Amino acid sequence: MDSSPKVLRTVTAIRYALPLREGGSLPGLMEADDDGLYVVKFRGAGQGAAALVSEVFFGEIARSLGLPIPEIVLVDLDVDISAAEGDPEIQDLLRSSAGLNLGIDFLPGAFPFAPPIARALAADIVWFDSLVMNVDRTAKNPNLLRWHNQVWIIDHGACLPAQHGDDPLSDAALREFPRIADHVLLKHAGSIADAHSRLAPLLSAEMIRDAAALVPDSWFIKHGREEYIDFVQKRLSSGPFAEEAERVRS
Ligand SMILES: Nc1ncnc2c1ncn2[C@@H]1O[C@H](COP(=O)(O)OP(=O)(O)O)[C@@H](O)[C@H]1O
Ligand SMILES: [Mg+2]
Repeated sequence: MDSSPKVLRTVTAIRYALPLREGGSLPGLMEADDDGLYVVKFRGAGQGAAALVSEVFFGEIARSLGLPIPEIVLVDLDVDISAAEGDPEIQDLLRSSAGLNLGIDFLPGAFPFAPPIARALAADIVWFDSLVMNVDRTAKNPNLLRWHNQVWIIDHGACLPAQHGDDPLSDAALREFPRIADHVLLKHAGSIADAHSRLAPLLSAEMIRDAAALVPDSWFIKHGREEYIDFVQKRLSSGPFAEEAERVRS
């Protein structure tokens, strides 16, 4: 299934409503000019633009595989918005993030994750997280929401930890990923080998390129667009990630 957009919608932020302090990336709830509310991840926050690349690129790959992820938009932020903000830390964050930031459609009234979850969906999410080396789907920090009686995946800023280092990203593609053992859905998941048979054939080279094309040029700092594409392509075709996840599940 390829339901990914060809371009991300861009909205303009009109108000910073509320900090969402649970997470590490200082996300905030913002109102935009389309009357929507978005969870915004700021370019000026700790891990900078690389975490935003990760959110868009890996998030849109997830969407193209049919995984349930809220809409991702680009949020244009005018520096003037910071003037209305009383908290100096947030004012600094807004000021250093003028321009394009990342927004995720806010799911109002979403609950934290709790079972049940279909075994095939849990396996698909584990498979995806081991493909993209997502360290952030643990029991302590599940980054799953329940909304409208469905499970949604959020927060793909901590995929591919190697993106914060200097080595070419394709170096990480064949590496083991022992942290998959901490995945919150392992005990709910059906066969990861079956998930691999379902999902690997769906993820075409074109879909990987299309997801990368959605990331704004200015967010690529340490590693370029092609490196991200090469990483996924190489890991998908040669990485033993599905076997590793299946091993820790059983
Ligand atoms: N789309 C959303 N709808 C509703 N709540 C959300 C959404 N995205 C994030 N949240 C809430 O905000 C918290 C922090 O967001 P998250 O994306 O996990 O950021 P961080 O990188 O800081 O962990 C989440 O744990 C969740 O409670
Ligand atoms: Mg989080």
